[in-house]
Amino acid sequence: MNQLKKRDTWGSRLGIIMAVAGSAVGLGNFLRFPAKAASNGGGAFMIPYFISLFLLGIPLMWIEWTLGRYGGGFEHGTAPGIFHSLWQKNRFIKYFGVIGIFGPLVIFIYYAYIESWTLAYSFFSLAGKYRGLSDQAAMQSFLSGFQGLEKNQYFQGLAPAYIFFLITFIVNIWVIYYGIKGGIEKLCKWAMPLLFTFGIFLMIRVLTLGAPDPAKPEWNVLNGFGFLWNPDFSALKSAKVWLEAAGQIFFTLSVGIGVILTYASYLSKGDDVVLSGLTASSTNEFAEVILGASIIIPAAFVFFGPVDIQNIARSGVFNLGFVTMPLILNKLPLAEIFGFMWFSLLFLAGVTSSVSLAQPAVAFLEDEFDIDRKKAVAIFGAVSFILCQPVIFFLGRGVVDELDFWGGTFFLVLFAAIETILFAWVFGMEAAWDEIHKGADMRVPKIYKFIIKYITPLFLFFILGMWFWQEWLPIIFMKGVSADNRLFVLGTRIGLILIFFILGVLVRIAWRKKRKREEGFR
Ligand code: ALA
Repeated sequence: MNQLKKRDTWGSRLGIIMAVAGSAVGLGNFLRFPAKAASNGGGAFMIPYFISLFLLGIPLMWIEWTLGRYGGGFEHGTAPGIFHSLWQKNRFIKYFGVIGIFGPLVIFIYYAYIESWTLAYSFFSLAGKYRGLSDQAAMQSFLSGFQGLEKNQYFQGLAPAYIFFLITFIVNIWVIYYGIKGGIEKLCKWAMPLLFTFGIFLMIRVLTLGAPDPAKPEWNVLNGFGFLWNPDFSALKSAKVWLEAAGQIFFTLSVGIGVILTYASYLSKGDDVVLSGLTASSTNEFAEVILGASIIIPAAFVFFGPVDIQNIARSGVFNLGFVTMPLILNKLPLAEIFGFMWFSLLFLAGVTSSVSLAQPAVAFLEDEFDIDRKKAVAIFGAVSFILCQPVIFFLGRGVVDELDFWGGTFFLVLFAAIETILFAWVFGMEAAWDEIHKGADMRVPKIYKFIIKYITPLFLFFILGMWFWQEWLPIIFMKGVSADNRLFVLGTRIGLILIFFILGVLVRIAWRKKRKREEGFR
């Protein structure tokens, strides 16, 4: 990097904790988690979930904070540079780092659009636009109309959705334009407390729900919680439940994506990562298992009962958030206010995550190409805007699922496996342990030396192996994809391969330039 240019930094310790927690607490906590938990039988899900948290989530959080801070010392804020700094003798390792830019970019493409629905629905709630709808079919058609999947009495086209997308997109670009301290940290410092305030209000509202139907007193909040929390040990035998639980841990903590590496690269050498990483993870878990678990599922249980909740959960994340939840809210007094709170909470959770997904690509351009931030943000804005279009116009064609599988699930686990091996085996566990504890405000329990070296990588390889075993061929041959959607899914795949390839070429160009510059100095 240009010696005259200084990398951005965080303004305060609270600032980076809020920002990492902001990245972690997202739509995953309030929509994806309840959908996964309910569709995997509630209590069956929570045991593998917590095991994955302690054996994968928390160790990876520490690994990424440490690697990010280490890479920042070499003025690298993304995985290609960070991996290269760790293993300088290996010419290829930087290309594996491409995943750490590719993943967040791919997630950003669909995440930003879904985030824009939450903004739209907070306005619709306040304006009472869906207030009169009281059954599943009507609410579903309201959503489909909004998404442009059908023309109906609620919406005649995609224009409203597109306008809310534009607003959301501009907000994201505006925040990253102002940088780490001036944009992201500032946003998270007010958005996170507000989000938690809304979440606590909504949780209290759900906790104080009575059984609405006197004929079915067992449809109550307590049984709603029982559904989620009563452990079902037989689930430990199901590989699918393990995969789903581990996948959720990755997504929710934002680990294995590449964003924490980038955020931590703006730390200084002596800044603590142990306590800060743990605080950010705990904040996320509070938002997920206390708030996220106490809103939709118990409320849906109260209004729809123990059988329907399974069907509702299986109908997917979007249905849960944008059909079931508005129906529930409509049954409450002051529905407009609670609806506004629910969707604003989702929007705040979404925007504090999506800016973190945008940052690796921006940091890559800044650090490796010496482009100044404003230009880097403009390039990112133009490219990601174009990439968002297929998601908007081909929604319902399997594009989002395809992006979510590769960008939001598979590559996370692969990336995590690579960084864990690099950290514990190439960098070496002794050096890694010293590095983690530089400036640390607390010691990591010693058992984690063993966990990080053996258990976490084995667990990750196990997950990858299970995938190959169970799902690889059906995924490659698009077994679950309807004939109508195949072309769209194929197009998405080709697009993803192209993005990956272009990022690889950019890494090559950046390193060549650097080598030439270094040779010039000699
Ligand atoms: N961690 C973010 C979420 O849960 C991506 O939504």
